[in-house]
Amino acid sequence: MTRVKIRFQCNNCGAISPKWTGQCPECQAWNSLTETAIEKESKSDRIKLHQQTPAQVKTLDQIEPGEQVRTLSGISELDRVLGGGIVGGSVILIGGDPGIGKSTLLLQMFAALNEKSGLKTLYISGEESIEQIGMRARRLDLQLEKLRTLTENHLEQIFSIIAVEKPQIMVIDSIQTVYTELLQSAPGSVAQIRECAAQLVRFAKLTNTTVILVGHVTKEGTLAGPRVLEHMVDTVLYFEGDTGGRYRVIRAVKNRFGAVNELGVFAMTDRGLREVNNPSAIFLSRHEGNVAGSVVMVTREGTRPLLVEVQALVDNAHGHQPKRVTVGLEQNRLAMLLAVMHRHSGIITYDQDIFINVVGGVRISETGADLPILLAILSSLKDQPLPRDLVVFGEVGLAGEVRPIQGGAERLNEAVKHGFKQAIIPKANLPKQAIEGLKITAVSRLAEVMDNIPVA
Ligand code: TYD
Ligand code: MG
Repeated sequence: MTRVKIRFQCNNCGAISPKWTGQCPECQAWNSLTETAIEKESKSDRIKLHQQTPAQVKTLDQIEPGEQVRTLSGISELDRVLGGGIVGGSVILIGGDPGIGKSTLLLQMFAALNEKSGLKTLYISGEESIEQIGMRARRLDLQLEKLRTLTENHLEQIFSIIAVEKPQIMVIDSIQTVYTELLQSAPGSVAQIRECAAQLVRFAKLTNTTVILVGHVTKEGTLAGPRVLEHMVDTVLYFEGDTGGRYRVIRAVKNRFGAVNELGVFAMTDRGLREVNNPSAIFLSRHEGNVAGSVVMVTREGTRPLLVEVQALVDNAHGHQPKRVTVGLEQNRLAMLLAVMHRHSGIITYDQDIFINVVGGVRISETGADLPILLAILSSLKDQPLPRDLVVFGEVGLAGEVRPIQGGAERLNEAVKHGFKQAIIPKANLPKQAIEGLKITAVSRLAEVMDNIPVA
């Protein structure tokens, strides 16, 4: 029989102490001990372990490709992010801000699954009462009779119920509300989250049940909770977008069964989340007239090109430290780009506050946004609007060179489809054949762009 012992492990160096202390006795880090459950093997366990036949070393050609059963969730944008459906026995973490639509999406998914796949589903909520879930399902106009629901947050109870129920796919909404009696710490603490998730992952693998964990992430995305789970689970999906806005984007940041950075796009309506199957132009804000500081870029997230508007506001700084604020982009990248622009084009911004925003709450992680950011900054600095039919993309290097990015032709074609007539792109991305209706300016150095900025 295995016995469980409670120990305190240092997050910094991994040392284990029998008691909690404010400072780790090993590495002297402060406040780094968290409660952990450690399984102690009894003597008979150890003997049994030794009697088992050990695993054998094999070359990979000896391995038969196992049957990987995928089930379509019935929501195609979600299947796209998952890499073509839900893999049986996998553990999926869905993170996002509170109120962004995680519960709504999963409820809708279960309704779709019940209708199409015949898999046995179970929605376990530790957050909402069964009446609340029922009311929501009714408002979403879902098939109520097949939505099997349980409200429980005691992990041991959950296990005893699912041992009888035997669902093939289940949701735990949310991992922050469940707790195991093994640990004394409060639900939602790192120790509880880690231990509960570990037990659920083990359960999923042993019984080939698909487990979907919901995790709340704070605005900065740094909450220790769900982040500590990323390495345990097979797939990590994050919701992006402002809670107040209309669109919701789901991104796969880790996927053992598919590509990452694939996006699924939804619109939040009064009848729940609706799929947006052709999202390429939804993130453009439509200005009445020409405005300075705005530029449209074509980004490619996953396999789809997406037109997004990058906005910059440059304003006189008051104070010693000029502000550098970015929403949807990496802040360090902005600092680097400003240095490149100063060094290679002589444009001074140290006396200016700079704010950058990607419209619609999308997050852009690719370097193709470099050139658009710089053009938006320059446009705002000079108060000179750029043409409305212009698209831009390109990476900018430290030497002031403009480097190509992947999928140039595809991005240009998407832009033309939406009526854009001019493009500034890296020289190496110039398509072999001219694209009808598009005037392309290909550049290889930042200075070339800065000297000939088109005006509206
Ligand atoms: P919810 O799924 O409860 O968020 P999470 O589980 O991520 O915390 O989403 C709730 C939000 O979505 C809430 O603010 C209201 C909004 N909403 C709609 O706009 N339309 C709807 O049909 C539903 C069900 C929710
Ligand atoms: Mg919820």
